[in-house]
Amino acid sequence: MGKGTIVLAYSGGLDTSICIPLLKERYDYDRVVTVAVHVGQQDDEIAVATEKGKKLADKHYTIDARDAFVKDHVFPAIKANGSYEGYPMGTSLARPLIAQEVVRIAKKEKAKAIGHGCTGKGNDQLRFDFIIRSAGLEVVAPIRELNLTRDWEIEYAKEHRIPVPVKKDKPWSIDENCWSRSIEGGKLEDPAYHPPDEIYAWTVSPKNAPDTPEKITLEFRSGVPVALNNKKYGGYELIQKLNVLAGKHGIGRNDMIEDRILGLKARENYEHPAATVILKAHSDLEALILTRSELAFKRMVDDKWSELAYKGLVYEPLYAALNAFIDTTQERVNGTVDLELYKGHVMVLGRSSPDAIYSSDLVSFDSDSIDQCHAIGVSQYFGIQARLVKQMAAKKK
Ligand code: ARG
Repeated sequence: MGKGTIVLAYSGGLDTSICIPLLKERYDYDRVVTVAVHVGQQDDEIAVATEKGKKLADKHYTIDARDAFVKDHVFPAIKANGSYEGYPMGTSLARPLIAQEVVRIAKKEKAKAIGHGCTGKGNDQLRFDFIIRSAGLEVVAPIRELNLTRDWEIEYAKEHRIPVPVKKDKPWSIDENCWSRSIEGGKLEDPAYHPPDEIYAWTVSPKNAPDTPEKITLEFRSGVPVALNNKKYGGYELIQKLNVLAGKHGIGRNDMIEDRILGLKARENYEHPAATVILKAHSDLEALILTRSELAFKRMVDDKWSELAYKGLVYEPLYAALNAFIDTTQERVNGTVDLELYKGHVMVLGRSSPDAIYSSDLVSFDSDSIDQCHAIGVSQYFGIQARLVKQMAAKKK
């Protein structure tokens, strides 16, 4: 009798595939149940994970979490203008949900432990462990604990008749959900290396994008996009459609050095066409609607929200409190943004909102609805303290 059942977060890739025999041989589990969670990876990737899970594990689940991912994680990220070190975060948004789904299956299968294939160098180990430990379950992370190298893994996989998906000519590690695609590893680990175009799958190079710009319209309700080009869509579908549209124009590529939670610097490449367009439109609309005080305060809230989301700390009470604040501000974020997509760039052409606090009547050069003389009184006091210091200094000379 071994240690019973363990549930494994499963992607179908090399790391998680070799975990299946490892959990039995090295950790003495009797039964390995694999769980693949669909958050918008390519359909064939989910199909491969399902097929391999069914073949290699004692039991396999594939869970369609696409709508929940958009509603519970991507929408809050849009409202919070969620970004990390300048790019729209993606992987970090999906990890808590994937872990929560695996926890749900672990409870159902009466497992006391959850396995994952994260290394001991990245962020995902921390994001997964946090959710698993919050549920009172044990974490088993063979890749981290056994200090395995890629070459050893490939050998071990061959011995166990596990198909090795990493081809020698394309040795990238990809993480994908509908909001973002991340590419790292292999030659990209040299920060000086120029990435070949083939690492990107959702975007064309801006150099090869169409010579004619394309105009689009996004409509927002309560801070989230509800229509594209005047047609209503569910969140997931809208994001997919926009990924194709903006990807065709080469929008949303990033090549950067990122500071991971542990402090390691990493070379990261991303593509996130829909996210780039939606976040640009969203913050532009906020500028039309929210007060100056709200905007200034919300920038700090958004930063703190992004930090917690990047770390995956979704059970931190502050995360819920920040979401509550953000949701209140977003009640008024309704309206339409026209944008132009052109050779890697997205530009706002115009915006309108029933909740705008912009008044052309007040600000226009051509209107007389404000008596400009009233500003003379304000001007008497404007900067008065600094003016006095300056005058006194002049007298001392
Ligand atoms: N650096 C990003 C993050 O921690 C993405 C990591 C994605 N992993 C990958 N194997 N491509 O959120």
